[in-house]
Amino acid sequence: MTEIAIVKTHAEAGRIAADLIVAALATRDEPTLGLATGSTPLPVWSALAERSLDLSAVRGFALDEYVGLPPGHPESYRAVVDRDIVAPLGLDPRRVRVPGDDECPLTEAGERYEAAIADAGGIDLQILGIGRTGHIGFNEPGSSLASRTRLKALTPATRADNARFFDSIDDVPTHCLTQGIGTILDARVLVLLAFGETKAPAVAAAVEGPLTSSCPASAIQLHRRAVVIVDEAAAARLEHRDYYRFAWDHREIATA
Ligand code: F6R
Repeated sequence: MTEIAIVKTHAEAGRIAADLIVAALATRDEPTLGLATGSTPLPVWSALAERSLDLSAVRGFALDEYVGLPPGHPESYRAVVDRDIVAPLGLDPRRVRVPGDDECPLTEAGERYEAAIADAGGIDLQILGIGRTGHIGFNEPGSSLASRTRLKALTPATRADNARFFDSIDDVPTHCLTQGIGTILDARVLVLLAFGETKAPAVAAAVEGPLTSSCPASAIQLHRRAVVIVDEAAAARLEHRDYYRFAWDHREIATA
């Protein structure tokens, strides 16, 4: 079941996602939140921070991490997670994991991360952005839809998109550790956000296209509770967007 919210403002998207997070975190004493970095989820963290909740018991698992940046690099996802999420939300940094953060060989990092997620009882709600390539996490086209956390190469398109965070594209790492599509699908609730016209083709492929590893985000169609929150520009290529609007407005009666 995929529910689609087409919102007027990014603040509204943040509030809807924050409501879903609050509901998911209430299901367990030590709940787990799957964390996405990048620009898109920033309104979610702001909306959540505004609620001044005690989130010190929450465990966090980042979707991905670059490989090859020096420790403490400000654009490492460890640093981004600490800056954008842990500090403003008041999470306990010791409870927040990023792939590869336990200093083991890269070949073992995926399995260790999977074990840590399993030890925490799985992920209650996973926040997702989407890349122009249709990636979720850094599962680029061709990723196995059953994949688990592992080392991946980034596409030139993703490196170009993320060059805005670095001095030049040459400084953007070529590889990453990322949760797999199978890992992501194991989360109990998925919340995927996308803003802007550059995301519109990937959103349409993910929501309405065929299930295919050419658009790894299309795997969300297999999930029983996926909520997609998009602005008008990112929704522009959705064939059934009027229906989605109607279904979202009547979601108390029936789900999309
Ligand atoms: C980030 C991640 C990526 C981003 C995606 C969109 O942890 O896994 O999938 O969500 O690249 O990035 P933004 O939001 O910056 O457009």
